[in-house]
Amino acid sequence: MTVMNDGGPLCTFEVVTLFPEMFAGFVGTSLLGKAIAGGLVAVHFTNPRDFGKGRHRAVDDTPYGGGPGMIMSAPPLAAALQAIADARGPAHRVLLTPQGQVFDQARARALVGQSRIVLVCGRYEGVDDRVGQALCDEELSIGDYVLAGGELGAAVIIEAVARLLPGVLGCGMSVADESFSAGRLEYPQWTRPEVWRDRAVPPVLLSGDHQAVARFRLREAARRTRDRRPDLLARHPLGAEEIDALREETDAAAPAGRPGKKRPGP
Ligand code: ADE
Repeated sequence: MTVMNDGGPLCTFEVVTLFPEMFAGFVGTSLLGKAIAGGLVAVHFTNPRDFGKGRHRAVDDTPYGGGPGMIMSAPPLAAALQAIADARGPAHRVLLTPQGQVFDQARARALVGQSRIVLVCGRYEGVDDRVGQALCDEELSIGDYVLAGGELGAAVIIEAVARLLPGVLGCGMSVADESFSAGRLEYPQWTRPEVWRDRAVPPVLLSGDHQAVARFRLREAARRTRDRRPDLLARHPLGAEEIDALREETDAAAPAGRPGKKRPGP
């Protein structure tokens, strides 16, 4: 299965998976669907089963040393990767595995420079260790939990990278301002109605004072990061402006409706 366009995409993703059908809705929907339709992104799928061994096109085998389950073997994956290179050229190759480096916004940004990215999805109990070493440029995990395969990880990486490509998001500011871009969680946001279940939008946001709004957002982003993700602050310490802003008491009282606070009623 191939989802592509002919207009020179900014990034082409090549997914190596036993289950390409898992991506059917994903590649046709919303942001990614529009990016593919608009020619900014292309996604191809290659099934290692097509390169499997014997009548049953086997792609897995029992682990050396014993143990439960089956391991994806190297030759079908190597053949799949070779077929992709022959058909469409070289690419940056990523193996999805819970043993990889943890994928984050910085790694998404680092992948933005690649014009072709192959995402190799493991299944079963794992992938022959030589696949990562001999065939891939890096191994990535989408978090410290074990999934049944790399497909959801591949989808996460495709979406995180695609939305950073110029033109994929409607508004360039959305990327610059968002959570993690500067080691901060994003400031909280509200929309109408102005008061909902007795919770009012902070008055400063209705003031029309752009400087005050910017200061409020700087402070709330710093506050949120300090309270929820101190690990991010350890890597990106508070700046003088943020320290000042956090000390300040303004007319904007504690923001409404913080998750984790008591929620009366349904
Ligand atoms: N395959 C199984 N678990 C995974 C994870 N957490 N990240 C990437 N690929 C995986």
